[in-house]
Amino acid sequence: MRYPLIPVILVLLAVSVGFAYIHWSKSGPGTGLYSQHWEPDPVQGYWDPANFYQSPDSIQGVFKGEQCVQCHEGITPGVVSDWRASRHAQTEQTVYCSACHGEDHQKLYLPTPDVCGSCHEKQHGEFQDEARYGFPSHVLAMERAVNAPHFVDKPKAEVQSCIQCHSVATKCDSCHSRHLFSAAEARRPEACITCHSGPPHPDDATYFASAHGQLYLTEGKEWDWSKPLTKGNYKAPTCAYCHMDSGRHQVANKSMWKFGLREINPHTSKNKVLRNEWIKLCSDCHKEDQARRWLTEMDQERKQAWDKLYAAEDILKDLRSDDLLTPAIDERPPYPLEQHAFWDRERIGFFEGQASAFYNVSAIERDYFEMWYFDNLSSYKAAAHGDMKRVKVGHKKLATSLDRIKTKASKLRTLSEADQNKKNAPTPSELWMKGAYTDYNREHN
Ligand code: HEC
Ligand code: HEC
Ligand code: HEC
Ligand code: HEC
Ligand code: HEC
Ligand code: HEC
Ligand code: HEC
Ligand code: HEC
Repeated sequence: MRYPLIPVILVLLAVSVGFAYIHWSKSGPGTGLYSQHWEPDPVQGYWDPANFYQSPDSIQGVFKGEQCVQCHEGITPGVVSDWRASRHAQTEQTVYCSACHGEDHQKLYLPTPDVCGSCHEKQHGEFQDEARYGFPSHVLAMERAVNAPHFVDKPKAEVQSCIQCHSVATKCDSCHSRHLFSAAEARRPEACITCHSGPPHPDDATYFASAHGQLYLTEGKEWDWSKPLTKGNYKAPTCAYCHMDSGRHQVANKSMWKFGLREINPHTSKNKVLRNEWIKLCSDCHKEDQARRWLTEMDQERKQAWDKLYAAEDILKDLRSDDLLTPAIDERPPYPLEQHAFWDRERIGFFEGQASAFYNVSAIERDYFEMWYFDNLSSYKAAAHGDMKRVKVGHKKLATSLDRIKTKASKLRTLSEADQNKKNAPTPSELWMKGAYTDYNREHN
């Protein structure tokens, strides 16, 4: 009679051991699944102040706001003149340096979103609330970067920069830069493109090439940027007009394709609700049915992209089941984090593990990675933002990549037939398995 309890007890035990393991594996400095494996550089204090900032102790004293300004006029004149030009210096109750940095110069802090939130409850509340939409989102961006396996699997010098962009989660000066903290500045596309640029997310290029971006480039100088981002105030939309409509401090609330990393079904009831919100926004300036048609075209572009991506994935999976991917998994340099894997296998595509797709893979898998990450993601952004030329170019590239994968796959099959028992296949060199890069990386993150 008591035996049925045994599985229950085992499950309970396993669950608590699981929690203990997670707790242990996160017990390094800072946060994140791999904090034990990664020592931050001091500059991290500026990007993730809550976890890493340490006040200098060279100046002793507790100062009033006016004293901070007086002395810093000489020490950091740029900071003071920006601050003087800001609303913080011009409101009835002046927001002095000390409101954001503290009064004790040996216990200075850099303001986290919570500090700004003590006065800007609305914006801070919206910002925090974004977490309920999951990834990707600004409020979870830091977590996303430090929890990505390729963050720790590469040498620190290569990944330090991740934090610079992903710090959008840990401080409020990403879009309204310090110490001007200007709403007008944040409304402009330039506020976003320091981070939203580059091959996997060419938001800048696709926006500037669109009808909207072209209008911004030709006429934007004359627009009155002191007005809020609502209907009637702007002739053409900017990034924030579309993604933070009505000044709401969230960018994930309407997102359905989510960066284009995987295929979604645009016709679920949830996605229909999101789509209607987009259409409502476009209707500030366009006819509703026109807007709906444009956005449906984007879905069609996605369908075509995924048809090609799935075709490539199928080829790779067939190669894998026939043991034709070379080097095979046990012939590849190990990732520091993968040493205890129970079940090693070549992983293909997003669902089977993003991290391995980036680096220690065979040539043909790398081709797929390039296809999925660059050709696909840039086509998506082009379709989302109305850059029709780039959609065409992107799909041409997708087709070329698929052809290359097909050719390489049939070459691999021919080679393996010629080389039945793999005896003549080259063995992976020591340098590849255990070279300076791999070792250095393992020891220094
Ligand atoms: C007597 C001059 C003086 C006064 C008064 C003063 N500071 Fe400073 N502050 C400095 C100097 C010098 C540094 C550079 C210290 C260093 O790098 O070791 C500095 C650095 C800073 C930094 C940069 C810290 C970093 O890690 O980059 C902040 C922020 C700051 N002060 C804020 C304040 C605030 C807030 C007050 C008023 C409560 C204040 N200061 C008052 C002289 C002063
Ligand atoms: C509204 C909040 C706010 C006020 C007011 C404010 N700061 Fe800052 N300050 C910030 C933020 C945000 C940063 C960037 C923190 C980071 O990098 O994580 C910063 C950074 C700094 C730094 C670091 C160096 C750098 O590159 O900017 C100094 C120095 C500084 N502030 C001085 C001052 C002084 C002096 C005043 C008053 C004249 C002042 N701050 C007023 C928010 C504020
Ligand atoms: C001590 C309270 C206080 C703190 C702390 C504070 N602010 Fe402010 N902030 C104000 C006040 C007051 C105004 C002016 C509001 C007004 O005039 O309507 C303002 C205005 C602003 C504006 C609007 C500027 C414009 O162009 O209209 C922005 C943006 C802003 N703050 C951002 C921040 C950020 C970011 C932080 C944290 C780094 C911060 N504030 C910290 C009180 C504060
Ligand atoms: C130039 C700024 C920038 C740098 C540097 C950067 N990222 Fe990102 N990252 C972004 C942006 C912007 C997005 C969102 C893309 C989108 O939605 O179009 C993103 C998305 C991501 C995503 C996917 C988001 C999700 O939730 O699915 C991951 C994972 C990620 N980044 C990790 C990293 C890592 C790890 C590094 C360093 C190797 C890095 N990023 C460097 C800006 C950057
Ligand atoms: C400091 C860098 C930075 C700035 C500035 C920035 N972002 Fe982002 N943004 C990111 C990162 C990083 C991500 C990816 C977050 C993740 O990995 O989950 C992201 C994600 C997004 C997403 C994707 C949300 C989703 O659910 O798919 C949108 C939309 C977005 N940002 C819009 C904007 C807009 C609009 C601006 C300017 C008003 C802006 N961002 C400014 C770094 C930035
Ligand atoms: C992704 C870019 C982005 C980030 C990050 C961001 N803001 Fe803003 N912020 C904006 C934009 C855009 C506006 C102008 C909104 C409008 O036109 O209504 C704005 C406006 C504001 C205003 C002025 C509101 C008004 O009605 O005058 C305040 C205050 C503010 N932000 C505070 C914050 C605080 C606090 C944080 C951190 C939690 C933050 N912002 C982070 C883009 C951003
Ligand atoms: C006319 C409105 C509009 C403008 C302007 C605009 N976007 Fe977008 N953006 C969209 C639409 C629509 C999508 C697709 C959203 C979906 O269905 O998921 C999108 C997707 C995105 C995504 C991926 C999030 C997702 O949902 O997949 C990011 C990041 C992004 N845009 C950033 C930017 C940046 C940065 C700018 C300015 C350089 C910008 N956008 C300008 C409408 C706009
Ligand atoms: C603030 C106003 C505004 C908003 C909001 C807006 N647009 Fe536009 N859009 C314009 C203007 C102005 C043009 C240029 C029209 C022209 O050239 O005559 C334009 C042009 C376009 C074009 C180019 C086709 C053409 O007729 O020239 C497309 C596609 C487009 N918009 C799609 C969208 C979509 C999709 C949305 C919503 C995600 C949207 N727009 C939101 C103002 C807006």
